[in-house]
Amino acid sequence: MTTPLPIGVLLSGSGTNLQAIIDAIARGELAAAIKVVISNRADAYGLVRARQHGLPTVVVPHKDFPTREAFEAELIRILQAHHVELVVLAGFMRLLSPVFIRAFRQRIMNIHPALLPAFPGTHAQRQALERGVRIAGATVHFVDEEMDHGPIIVQAAVPVYPDDTEETLSTRILAQEHRIYAQAIQLYAEGRLQIDKQKVIVLDERQSPNLALRSPTSA
Ligand code: GRF
Repeated sequence: MTTPLPIGVLLSGSGTNLQAIIDAIARGELAAAIKVVISNRADAYGLVRARQHGLPTVVVPHKDFPTREAFEAELIRILQAHHVELVVLAGFMRLLSPVFIRAFRQRIMNIHPALLPAFPGTHAQRQALERGVRIAGATVHFVDEEMDHGPIIVQAAVPVYPDDTEETLSTRILAQEHRIYAQAIQLYAEGRLQIDKQKVIVLDERQSPNLALRSPTSA
């Protein structure tokens, strides 16, 4: 068996995506090892989840640092000390500067609750509802210097119903997030992601038909 991919997870909130990654590893679907979970908020429930699974956690309160650079230098130090190869942003609510991005170039993933490049930024589900789209979804992408912008790895679509609220749509999208984040990390672990400028090429994509988008059927 090959060595599991060493990953570090950064989060600020409830950590359901972290949980999905933990569960995918436990089921043997994701060949990764979570080396450290870092939160900028001491009260993030994601930290509780991590500790329940015996994962090392570190709280790095951004307010304790005079500058973004100083905050990020500490994040980089911790991630490197844990020999993290891939940085996984899972509801991490701080913008990362080019200094951080350069330290882990093409080795940072993020998940966003919209079909990028539509609806970047905060309240993506609300933006989708207000714009009246019929299909919404989630995107896993590599992080570059622009927010919610880097090369797209996996997307999943969900229908939007006329009576949807921000909450019902978010719940539907979140279920897909939990599926595709582990898939994207596994593709990375298998060395199957190649970046060509703004695009990600998935090697042997036909071997993974479940990565292809299925439109809603007429049923
Ligand atoms: C998710 O909707 C994710 O797309 C966004 O932040 C939320 C995090 O949720 N970036 P959780 O903390 O993983 O439950």
